Amino acid sequence: VGTVDVDLSKIAVGGALTVTWRGRPVFIRHRTEEEIARARADDAVSLRDQQTDSARVQRPEWLVVIGICTHLGCIPLGQKAGEPRGEFGGWFCPCHGSQYDTSGRARKGPAPRNLDVPPYHFLDDGTIRLG
Ligand code: FES
Repeated sequence: VGTVDVDLSKIAVGGALTVTWRGRPVFIRHRTEEEIARARADDAVSLRDQQTDSARVQRPEWLVVIGICTHLGCIPLGQKAGEPRGEFGGWFCPCHGSQYDTSGRARKGPAPRNLDVPPYHFLDDGTIRLG
């Protein structure tokens, strides 16, 4: 009860999937090498909610975050092709313009914190269990 298993095998590199877990959207992104490199490079900059990329992922190619803006709770854009991802390549919140990077960290706008990472673990290379 309260867990959701997600099949990652259908998410292409560069693609994303949104699933619902405990009533909340969870963003899963299959990051490209470029997105991973960008997230790691930005470990060195000053962030409002300082966290390294490696502290936020279990496997570099998979970013898993709760898709709720830490400002006032809107659902950021950027999961679907063609949606704005903001200048840091992650997500853009349409409500008040917060921007998140490819690690889901808050970079611009009023969001005070990074997107939360939910509890999850890998069941095997192609499956994660949320919760
Ligand atoms: Fe996202 Fe305000 S709720 S910027």
